[in-house]
Amino acid sequence: MINYTLAFACSKNGFIARHSGDNPYEWTSKEDQNHLKSLINENEWQVMGRITHELNPNKNRKRIVFSRSSDHIKLIDENIKNQYFFNPDLHQWNDFENLCKKKVLILGGTKVHDFFLYADLIDSMYITIEPLEFLEGVPAFSYINFKDVIPFFHEKGFSAKEKLLNDNGTKLINFKKI
Ligand SMILES: NC(=O)c1ccc[n+]([C@@H]2O[C@H](COP(=O)([O-])OP(=O)(O)OC[C@H]3O[C@@H](n4cnc5c(N)ncnc54)[C@H](OP(=O)(O)O)[C@@H]3O)[C@@H](O)[C@H]2O)c1
Repeated sequence: MINYTLAFACSKNGFIARHSGDNPYEWTSKEDQNHLKSLINENEWQVMGRITHELNPNKNRKRIVFSRSSDHIKLIDENIKNQYFFNPDLHQWNDFENLCKKKVLILGGTKVHDFFLYADLIDSMYITIEPLEFLEGVPAFSYINFKDVIPFFHEKGFSAKEKLLNDNGTKLINFKKI
């Protein structure tokens, strides 16, 4: 069985980017970046939306990239193995799981978070809240007000543990399905 972990960093009011195309490395803390590195090392595969993939190309990572551009599951680049386009509207979930087999890290953006949430596939989730407020941006989820995320996941049977990552007030919340 595949284990799915969702992880994102956001502002205090729940934006994962200031605009689609924003690079979170410009505003996330070093501690969050280290935390993300550990998660990447712990999870063999990553899944993400096309924009997030294109903003962070890395030919050494095993990736499944959601996109409606392709009518079959195919390599994104013939010269890079283990990076595929996948369209969940058309393709079978079995085929997704046959590709990645074990531990998968879900890396955004919004509609990818929505997909895994509503498909009820998330086993654990890490939210890093940076001590920043953005006036607008890309939300973590489409249909959940950020202030309701903790009660929402409690309702869905997750435990939540919080800790401070640094003296600036960066907070890490770890949700686990009980
Ligand atoms: N702070 C964080 O932790 C964090 C994490 C991840 C991303 N981000 C930021 O978020 C921004 C990008 O997020 P985004 O939400 O705008 O875009 P995104 O999810 O990265 O990419 C959107 C694209 O992914 C494809 N897609 C998404 N859901 C799909 C589905 N259910 N079925 C088929 N295709 C699907 C579509 O590609 P096609 O157009 O090809 O059909 C869609 O246009 C960037 O600035 C990125 O840096 C931040």
